[in-house]
Amino acid sequence: MYRIVRKEVLNPAVKLMDIEAPRVAKSAKPGQFVILRIYEKGERIPLTIADYDPEKGTVTIVFQEVGKSTKLLGTLNEGDYIADFVGPLGNTMEVPKGAKKILGVGGGVGIPALYPKLKMLHQEGYRVEAILGGRSEEYVIFRKEMEAVCDKVYYATDDGTLGKKGFVTDVLKDVLENDKEVDFVITVGPVIMMKNVCKMTKEYDIPTIVSMNPLMVDGTGMCGACRIEVGGETKFVCMDGPIFDGHLVNFDLAMTRLNMFKKQEKISLELYEK
Ligand code: NAD
Ligand code: FES
Repeated sequence: MYRIVRKEVLNPAVKLMDIEAPRVAKSAKPGQFVILRIYEKGERIPLTIADYDPEKGTVTIVFQEVGKSTKLLGTLNEGDYIADFVGPLGNTMEVPKGAKKILGVGGGVGIPALYPKLKMLHQEGYRVEAILGGRSEEYVIFRKEMEAVCDKVYYATDDGTLGKKGFVTDVLKDVLENDKEVDFVITVGPVIMMKNVCKMTKEYDIPTIVSMNPLMVDGTGMCGACRIEVGGETKFVCMDGPIFDGHLVNFDLAMTRLNMFKKQEKISLELYEK
């Protein structure tokens, strides 16, 4: 059993929890994820690690309450326990040789998943900048944390309440047009956002990695639920990812697969809320 030692409400849809999981905290690396189950027969929830503290033995998770299981997780409080917390799982990132300036592009609840990657690069001495976007100011989460590890942070909101009015890609266009020193881009957020970021960085020939967040069932490479297409080959995100070369990912297929069970997810949520 894993104890919730801190809980914070980040905005109306998103919550943060620190989970006591010393073994996971000790070996976690930026980009990796965990799979948790609230109770023994519960659904497995994959979540990218938002932070970890090997000394305190805690792992930070941030989740959006979108379905039955994440809503149930959101009802738990500090001092409560969850049944399983498996990880760290998945690969981590590699920065191209000779890169000096790194740009992170994060959207909505993808921002905390981008954070540990930028934090490590900052600690390693790279120049790190970020473009963060959300529907409105309150949806651009982890701003304080990001500002602490970035040399510069640009903001974009759909309604213009923070930074530029528009998508992160509107800011990215300006940055890439004016700054020829960006060597590497890391992007995490909605699939459509990562697709559009990668389309743009490809035009500028800047290596770009993405963190994929598909449906997962077993998380062990056995069920195939998390499969995506990368460079014309089938890859399992739980075993081969979640980080991939963004210029090789078939985002359209990934979006189709993400929406496959929307009807069943809606029914499950309606039954839970009854
Ligand atoms: P959202 O729909 O509110 O979008 C956030 C921002 O993304 C927008 O404000 C905009 O700047 C950008 N964006 C959206 N559509 C775009 C488009 N068509 N072109 C360019 N930019 C666009 O995001 P949300 O509701 O917070 O959802 C976040 C998503 O992040 C979820 O789909 C979730 O699956 C994903 N996610 C991924 C990871 C991961 O590790 N890969 C982790 C957490 C969340
Ligand atoms: Fe089953 Fe990846 S979740 S193969």
